[in-house]
Amino acid sequence: MTTAPFRLAFFSTQKYDITAFDSQLPKHITTEYFSQQLNETSVKLAEGFDGICCFVNDVLSEDVIERLHQLGVKLIALRCAGFNNVDLKAAKNHGIKVVRVPAYSPEAVAEHCLALILTLSRKTHKAYNRVKENNFDLNGLLGFNLHNKTVGVIGLGKIGTAFVKILNGFGANVIYFDPFTESDLAQSVSIETLYQQSDIIALHCPLTNDTLHIINEQALEQMKPGVMLVNTSRGALIDTQACINALKSRKLGYLALDVYEQESELFFKDMSCEIIDDDIFQRLLTFPNVLITGHQGFFTKEAVSEIVATTLNNVDEFIANSPLTNEVK
Ligand code: NAI
Repeated sequence: MTTAPFRLAFFSTQKYDITAFDSQLPKHITTEYFSQQLNETSVKLAEGFDGICCFVNDVLSEDVIERLHQLGVKLIALRCAGFNNVDLKAAKNHGIKVVRVPAYSPEAVAEHCLALILTLSRKTHKAYNRVKENNFDLNGLLGFNLHNKTVGVIGLGKIGTAFVKILNGFGANVIYFDPFTESDLAQSVSIETLYQQSDIIALHCPLTNDTLHIINEQALEQMKPGVMLVNTSRGALIDTQACINALKSRKLGYLALDVYEQESELFFKDMSCEIIDDDIFQRLLTFPNVLITGHQGFFTKEAVSEIVATTLNNVDEFIANSPLTNEVK
């Protein structure tokens, strides 16, 4: 007797997802790839599927999850680490299992964080454009060493730890704040001390009720003038308007973002021919000391391959009715 294949619908699919998943897909899983973000309107596309595979900006609210349940969906397989976009209580109430990819390559995000820091500090993005136009003037490109700088890490989990290991190689003085983790790789300090002492602050904690807008006006006030702030974690860790004010007052010397609170309206799409209505985002782009990438911290060959392997293994465990290694409850 042959069993029917497991039907998995992908939302927010990009070309690279299709290439990567198709290359590892077993015969007992069939897929349909939707480019649409999952939300209250697009949820109807999930009809006829056993499970759905979602990414960071898909909306898995109570209403969407209730509709998924009505449509017969039994599994939400997140192809990412963060799960702040899922109403876990609603999923539990409807008996829908949620699995994720807890760690695919913490080094991928940590290395991207470092790339942002070095780009801003050494202004390689500006140098690239100058040299392309045969402009070899160094004025305006003065950088600073990471060696001996104090770097404050908020959240010392997998990515934070990978980041600290890199920074230790640079000879930076690393301090961290994490209420739930201890490590001898760096010195643990209070959040106030971290704000007061750091030349660079990197966010590597998850987005929770406690960390929403953790970087707000009061936090910025405590920081050193000219501090560099780097967020590769989740956009809503930062009150963006407060950061704009701090950039205007010169308190914030540099800002690097791989994530943005309203990114679901913008990121992962080609908006180059569109009028962007988000005035806060557009204001950010006007600062010479702000560098933004569109949520690409995870985007290395190694990480994508690991995301696919873990996601498919998560689905396999569900099909086999085995304990779910990467269940989120
Ligand atoms: P993790 O779970 O290994 O580490 C998070 C750490 O933050 C833990 O040690 C935890 O104790 C700490 N933490 C929790 N609440 C805190 C608080 N209030 N203050 C300070 N620390 C706190 O997670 P991992 O894998 O290191 O990822 C961190 C975040 O990075 C994810 O939640 C996700 O939002 C983001 N991420 C971004 C990616 C990108 O492409 N830009 C890719 C993957 C993850």
